[in-house]
Amino acid sequence: MRHLIPSYVRVPVLFFIIAGIVEYFVDSGEKAAFIEEPIVLVFLILVLFILIAIEGIVGSIENILYQSLDEEAKARFVEAKNKVPQFNKIKELYKKLLGTKPIEEEGEIILDHNYDGIKELDNNLPPWWLYGFYATIIFGVVYMIRYHVFNADGQYEEYETEYAVALKEIEEYKKNAKDLVDINTVEILTDAADLAAGKKIFEVNCVACHMADGGGGIGPNLADEHWILGGGIKNVFNTISEGGRDGKGMIAWKTSLKPLEMAQVSSYLLTFQGTVPANPKEAEGEIWIEASLENTETGEEVHDVNIEVKKVISDSLETAIDY
Ligand code: HEC
Repeated sequence: MRHLIPSYVRVPVLFFIIAGIVEYFVDSGEKAAFIEEPIVLVFLILVLFILIAIEGIVGSIENILYQSLDEEAKARFVEAKNKVPQFNKIKELYKKLLGTKPIEEEGEIILDHNYDGIKELDNNLPPWWLYGFYATIIFGVVYMIRYHVFNADGQYEEYETEYAVALKEIEEYKKNAKDLVDINTVEILTDAADLAAGKKIFEVNCVACHMADGGGGIGPNLADEHWILGGGIKNVFNTISEGGRDGKGMIAWKTSLKPLEMAQVSSYLLTFQGTVPANPKEAEGEIWIEASLENTETGEEVHDVNIEVKKVISDSLETAIDY
C-alpha cells in the first residue's frame, strides 16, 4: 500500500487531514483556528516537519537495508516493491470471463480450413455473454408466467394503487395538520371545538374594536352582509392575516396568530352573519354575495381575483394618502 501512494501525495493529504481535525476541535469562531490562535499555527508547522522527517527516515532506512542485501535478495526486494497485488485477481477474473485460450494453446482450437493463409479459431462463447444470455432466458420465463399467466399487477395498476394510498395519506395528513391552512386552502370550519377556539381568540383580540357580538365600533360591523375588504372565508382570512387598509387600525394578525387560529376566528366571526347585534354600526362597504363570485363556466371560485382587486384598491388608496 505504501508504494501505491507516493510521498508527495501522502504528506499533504495527512497534513490537511490533521489540519482539518484541529480546525474542527479548536473553537475559533468565524476565523480559521491558525489565524485566531498562533499556537495552532506553530503546532501545524511542527506536524508538517514531523511528517516530512518520518518520510525521510523511512526512506533512508529502506535504502540502508537495501544496500546490506546480497544480489539475489536485492532482486527479490525490487520485484516485491514493483508488484501490485490488488489488480492480479481482477485481471484473472477478466480473463476467465472472456474465456479465451492463451496463444500457446490456440493450436487445439484451430479449424482446418485455410483461406489464403487466413485461419479461423473455434473459440468458446465468452462466459460473460453466455451466462448473461441464460439469465435473460430465466428472466423471460419468470416474466411471462408472472404477468401473462397469473396476471400480476402491471405498472399501471401499481401506480393506481399507490396513488390511491397516497391520496388517503394526504387526507389523513391534512386532518392532523390544520395548521397548514393558507389563503388558498382555507375553508369554513364547522367543528364546535374550532368555533369555540375562534370565539376565545375573538374575545381576547378583537372585541375591543368589533364588539363581542360583531356589532362594530372602531372596526366595522361584522354581522351585516356589507364588507369593506370582501366577505367569504378567503377574504376574511386574508384581511385578518394581512390587516386592513393602512391607517385604519386593523393590523395584520399573521405575526401573532397561527394560520389555524386565523381560520378559527374567521369561521367564528362568519357565524355573526344574519344575527342582529345589540348596537350595530352602520353598514360600510359593499354587499357581498358569495354566489356572484362563482365563475359560471367552470364553477370555480374566484376569490383570489377579488383579493387582488381589493389589494389594488387599497394600494391606490395608500398612494393617495401618501401624496
Ligand atoms: C384596533 C382595532 C381593531 C382590532 C383589535 C381588530 N380590528 Fe378588525 N378591523 C378594524 C378596522 C378599523 C377595520 C376596517 C379596516 C379597513 O377599513 O381597511 C377592520 C376590519 C376587519 C375586517 C374586515 C371587515 C370588512 O368589512 O371587510 C375583519 C374580518 C376584521 N376586522 C376581523 C378582525 C379580527 C378577527 C380581529 C381580532 C383577531 C380584529 N379584526 C381586530 C379594527 C380592528
